[in-house]
Amino acid sequence: MKITFCCTDTRAEPWLQGLSAALPGADISVWQPGAPQADYAVVWAPPQRFIDEQSGLKALFNIGAGVDALLALRLPPAMRVVRLDDAGMAVQMAEYVSHALIRHFREFDGYEADTRAGRWSYRRPRLRQDFPVGIMGLGVLGERVARAVAQFDFPVRGWSRSPRQLDGVRCYSGQQGFNDFLAATRVLVNLLPLTPETRDIMNRETLSRLLPGAYVINVARGAHLVDEDLLALIESGHVAGATLDVFRTEPLPAGHPFWQHPHITVTPHTSARTLRGESIAQIARKMAALERGEPIAGVVDARRGY
Ligand code: NAP
Ligand code: GLV
Repeated sequence: MKITFCCTDTRAEPWLQGLSAALPGADISVWQPGAPQADYAVVWAPPQRFIDEQSGLKALFNIGAGVDALLALRLPPAMRVVRLDDAGMAVQMAEYVSHALIRHFREFDGYEADTRAGRWSYRRPRLRQDFPVGIMGLGVLGERVARAVAQFDFPVRGWSRSPRQLDGVRCYSGQQGFNDFLAATRVLVNLLPLTPETRDIMNRETLSRLLPGAYVINVARGAHLVDEDLLALIESGHVAGATLDVFRTEPLPAGHPFWQHPHITVTPHTSARTLRGESIAQIARKMAALERGEPIAGVVDARRGY
């Protein structure tokens, strides 16, 4: 089995070692222009030239969950694209969202400011029934986040493309369910894939439908959010603030208003990192399954865009 590795901004050596250990006998190397056709590829943000030259791959394994950047390339129509399917990301996402939610709900920023100023002061307890959490996207990550948030007894709502049933989660689906979902949500968590349908989905009109005093947690992609609309709604008081992990341009440019905004917390696209060991084990398992002619999970449907 011949495997080519083409991941930008990633140190190749540990991946090659890990893949070799997991797939003894496989011939694994870093892609160079003009390299012979491989059977499988492990990629992150490869150049178009890579796709053009390696058009006969049996499968292209993306070392992330989101495939928006990959699908923006010209791929051969029959190319099988496989994304990471949890691989240790779901628990990280559950931690990150729970932390952002609880930090906001319990006003820990305010307590930190008070204690830094040497003030021993109490805030009136808030009721979690007043903070229903709505999760857009109930896939591998959204479902895990919904379960984590429900553990803290927040009312939880979820929205997906097709109807879902999850214990403890009021589920909405499709365009018809979207407005009802927004109207029943105060803390909005975005875990949608970026597709033509979901680009700019958090805009002035949709965010205005959230319950007053809304809070936004964006952990999916920056292009889901219209930045100016969020800023305007915070200014108007309808939205109380946001925790943002992803941005239209990354790194977030110096001077962007999000950096210094008193009601916005910025993190550098770190809510759920690719964990090398778990990812290698998953990819190796799937390559072996494909070689045996077995089906695998996580194959992207290019027409849906995720
Ligand atoms: P997934 O398993 O494919 O789940 C996607 C969910 O979104 C599904 O529930 C799907 O509905 C729903 N959905 C898709 N299009 C929709 C639409 N037009 N309307 C309503 N619902 C729609 O994806 P995942 O593994 O959970 O990952 C989600 C995203 O998280 C990734 O695409 C990536 O962009 C982002 N991510 C970010 C980080 C980070 O560090 N910030 C890390 C990993 C992933 P159905 O259930 O009906 O299909
Ligand atoms: C990270 O953003 C991913 O899609 O895995």
